[in-house]
Amino acid sequence: MFSFLEKNKFLLLTLATLGFKFICFLLTKIIIRIFVALFFREKRFKWFNDGNQWAVITGATDGIGYEMSQQLAFKGYNLMLIGRNENKLEQTKLKILQNISICAQEKNKLNKNVKTMSSIQIRTMVFDFSTSIDYSSIEHFVQSNLHDIFILVNNVGTSLTIPQRFVEECPISHEEIIHVNIIAATKMMELILSSMINRKRGLVINVASLGAKHSCPLMSVYTASKAYVSTLSNCLAEEYRNDGLAIVALYPWRVSTKMTAYHKIDFSTPNPCDYVRSALSSIKHCGGTEITGYWSHSFIDSLFNMVSSFGGKQITIRWVKSIITKYRRRVIEMMQELNSFNLV
Ligand SMILES: NC(=O)c1ccc[n+]([C@@H]2O[C@H](COP(=O)([O-])OP(=O)(O)OC[C@H]3O[C@@H](n4cnc5c(N)ncnc54)[C@H](OP(=O)(O)O)[C@@H]3O)[C@@H](O)[C@H]2O)c1
Repeated sequence: MFSFLEKNKFLLLTLATLGFKFICFLLTKIIIRIFVALFFREKRFKWFNDGNQWAVITGATDGIGYEMSQQLAFKGYNLMLIGRNENKLEQTKLKILQNISICAQEKNKLNKNVKTMSSIQIRTMVFDFSTSIDYSSIEHFVQSNLHDIFILVNNVGTSLTIPQRFVEECPISHEEIIHVNIIAATKMMELILSSMINRKRGLVINVASLGAKHSCPLMSVYTASKAYVSTLSNCLAEEYRNDGLAIVALYPWRVSTKMTAYHKIDFSTPNPCDYVRSALSSIKHCGGTEITGYWSHSFIDSLFNMVSSFGGKQITIRWVKSIITKYRRRVIEMMQELNSFNLV
């Protein structure tokens, strides 16, 4: 026994150091949580709705944006849906109205929002965030049609379908990613935030990405753009923390949507409906909130944080790169399969 300890002194010392670090890490986390709960507790967030409230959703025709729209309609909010495709916008509007009426007919599914639900208004607007720099049409529409905006969901986002290195030729330009992911969120908040501040109520959901926190090689411009969204969201939350607003930075890891080539649903990849339901129910406080929106995404976030704090951020970035590389292979294989069937 003694000779075993002698021989493996270095290994034991390393394990003891790691164990000690781990316990310190957990204790510090618990102490900080208690401190925050005691001294920095924000007011509880209330889903205010008197039947005249509007929710504005960008990129509302698919994936997370569509689900946000659908579930906010179930909560009784009027919707302004912004997307780039007129037909898809019209179909989205009809689908949501249809789902609302089905829900209203099923008596046992009725909830307290049903009265407001049946009188919901849905407006649509065609706007391509990748090419438009003039937001005056949205400004005009918002000012003349929507008198009480309670919710803004900055959801629109774009990325490379196949992750790749920075200087390789790609189907969408870096400028396009910057326009859709950065300029859109900034301009929409410029247009809408002041009316929320005047009314002393409102919810802004800025859809970032977990990649923004941990950096994703092969998706560099995308994750950098999401890091901008996250920083902007947190700064504004602090600037307006006494104005009754809730400003949420949402960090999904992976959701099965068009953007992720409809990745197989598994514990880390929910469908958009489950993801959005869980994300909306995680909004509990006014002020600034950072949420992943889904239990397994929080688990992945904690895992990355722990690896970063023990092994350094570079280790996490390499780990994320290996995940993205595997994902890239999967998407390429899928594209080749579709090509062989002449489906793309
Ligand atoms: N899915 C994920 O795993 C994941 C992970 C982290 C973060 N996110 C973020 O979540 C948000 C939603 O992603 P998603 O997965 O739901 O994406 P999605 O399924 O590709 O849907 C994107 C939506 O944005 C619209 N859109 C795209 N480019 C546009 C443009 N230039 N102008 C106007 N509308 C445009 C799309 O319109 P069309 O219907 O016309 O294409 C669609 O309605 C994005 O900000 C994304 O970065 C997603």
